[in-house]
Parts: sequence; structure tokens; C-alpha cells
Amino acid sequence: LVSGCGSTTASKDSGNIKIGGDLELSGNVATFGQSVLNAVNLAFEDQNKKGGVLGKQIQFITADNKSDAGESTSAITKLITQDNVVAVLGAVTSSNTKAAVPVATDNKIPLITPTATNAEVTVNKDGSLNSWVFRSCFLDPFQGKVAANFVLNTLKVKNAAVFIDQKDDYSKGLAAEFSKDIKAGGGTITDTENYVGGDKDFKATLTRIKASNPDVVFVPGYYNEVGLIVKQGRELGITVPFVGGDGWDSAKLPELAGAANLNNTYFVNHMWADDPATKPFVEAYKAKYNTEPDALAALGYDAAEMLISAIKTAGSTNAEKIRTALENTKDFKGVTGVISVDPKTHNPVKSAVIIKMVDGKKTLLTHVNP
Ligand code: PHE
Repeated sequence: LVSGCGSTTASKDSGNIKIGGDLELSGNVATFGQSVLNAVNLAFEDQNKKGGVLGKQIQFITADNKSDAGESTSAITKLITQDNVVAVLGAVTSSNTKAAVPVATDNKIPLITPTATNAEVTVNKDGSLNSWVFRSCFLDPFQGKVAANFVLNTLKVKNAAVFIDQKDDYSKGLAAEFSKDIKAGGGTITDTENYVGGDKDFKATLTRIKASNPDVVFVPGYYNEVGLIVKQGRELGITVPFVGGDGWDSAKLPELAGAANLNNTYFVNHMWADDPATKPFVEAYKAKYNTEPDALAALGYDAAEMLISAIKTAGSTNAEKIRTALENTKDFKGVTGVISVDPKTHNPVKSAVIIKMVDGKKTLLTHVNP
């Protein structure tokens, strides 16, 4: 020790271990951020009761990104430069996470998104790795393929219309993969239409979609718009299945769509509550919050536990050491499945589930392995 003073100094390492949360706590996808917040608090409070990490208590400091990419950049900047966090969890959506990546990279602070599934969150278009960025979820190229195979092989239909949130990276990436795989499987895209997050009236576009006579309508969006799209689609007489991805997962979806309108709809998701690895978490979450955890919560819990484990392995809150420990994550037993981080891509390989909505409730149709 250079310093003659044995007590703590006013540095990053003083007192508690500070971890940041760049989360969608308000705005268009507020249930997403709230679920992750609840689950991360559950993980950290549990750990603190067990004595914390490296003998210190974890302090979770959140910043609301208001479901907005620009706000996400500001939120992570504040967490890193003002709060001096040693790592960041978040953001939830792919666009909001991409807006945080340069800040984590410039400041050399590890970022784990629980939920951002877009391919380019970790690996850029030119193939370069965002070396400070990790995730606990599968990717849209997989999720899109699962959705397309489900349409072709389970619903056994070939003609799909696709309705895309044109400003959202997640929606665009998932739509591209789905459309490619439908065509590769001998199907056709009868119509491709766009909306913008925040839109409320989809009737004119849904009328064109209906006229294209699809066997199925694929909507790779978030619950707020999806709920209204399904409701208005049914009102216009679209009776064929609506299919989507993880962005549908919210307790708000049945409220917005109407339970009956959601019959004959399906979406790809990350976990099923009754699976043996998931169930103990579901019970603990229900005991604390008196509500069912969704996939966001389960993935948030896994991201928090991955980080705790990495800090323990690092034996330090040094950012470079945490980063190395995260990169070497192997066979981590998460509540959403076993997570091994590929050092070249920082992506885990995990299975998906297909959810069938029945009278406003999620039911498990099947598990799909990569
Ligand atoms: N995968 C979505 C995205 O990348 C976020 C999400 C994950 C939403 C899980 C719901 C459930 O934007």
C-alpha cells in the first residue's frame, strides 16, 4: 500500500459496491424497466443479506431512461461519471442499449443488458466486438428463425404479412430475419407495413394488411402498440393468427388487446415459469411482489447474478477484471437457462419458448432449442 492510511478513501471502492441501472422506468415500455428493477433488487437484497460481495454491500443506483434512446445515453453517462458505478445493468430495449454502448465503451465500464436481443448490440456490422458489452438473452436472428419455423411447420401456413416499428432496431432486425426465413421456407410475404412507436390508430394499415390475404400477421413490436394492433385487427375482421416476439411480454398486453382478441396469437419468449430452473425464482418473486414475473424479470435476475458472480471471480471491483470474468462466464446456471458467454461475440446460446395466449393468459406451447 502506498497510502499510509488504512481506512477507505473517497474512491470508487469506498463503502458500498455501486452498480448502475439504465432502465425504462417510465414512457412507452415502462413495464419492461419495472420488471427488471424488481428482479435486480431481489437479487441484490438477497446477496446483501448473505453479507454482500467481497465483504461489501451492493448499492443499486437506477436512472430512468424514459424508454428513449437519447435519455439512455444521458442516464448511463450520469451513472458512470457522477455516481461512479463499477458496472451497469440495462438498458432493456435494443435501441436504448445501443445508445448506451458508446458510453460504456469510452469509459471502460462493463455493461450487461438483460434483454436487448438485436444482433448488433455486441457485434457491430463490421464484425468488431463491443468488448465492454454483455447480455443474458438470446438473439433476434435466432428468435426470428424460431417464429418463422413455427409459422411454417406448426401453423403449417406460408403467407405472412409483416408489420414493423420502423424506428426501432429490434423490430426491424426481427422482421428481416423472419421474412428471410419465411421466403427460404417457400413462403411469401404478402405485405410489409410500417408504424412508429407511440402510434395509436392502425386501422388504415391493417386494412391493407387484410387485403393482402395473409395466413398470419407477424408483429415484431412492443406490447403497447401490439395490444392496439391486435384489437383493431380483430375489429376489422382479421381472424388469422397474430405472431410476435419477446416484446409482447407484458401484463398490459391483455388489457390493451382484450383477452378474447388475443386468442389465436403466439409469441416467442425467453422462459416458462414452471420450468424446474425457473420455478424457485418465480416463487421468490411472487412472495416479494405479489405478482407473476415476466421474462424481463427473469432475464434481469440472471444479469444481476452473472454480475455478482463475475465480481466474486474477479475478487475486485476493477472494471477490467470484472470484464474478463464476465467474458469467461461458463455454464452459469441462470433461471432462464444455462449461460456460457462466447468470448468472440459475448453472446449466450439459449433456448426459446413459444407462448400461446388463451383467454388473456400465457400458456406454454413448446420449448425450442438452438
Ligand atoms: N428483446 C427486446 C429488445 O431487444 C426487449 C425485450 C426482451 C422485451 C424481453 C420483452 C422481453 O428490444
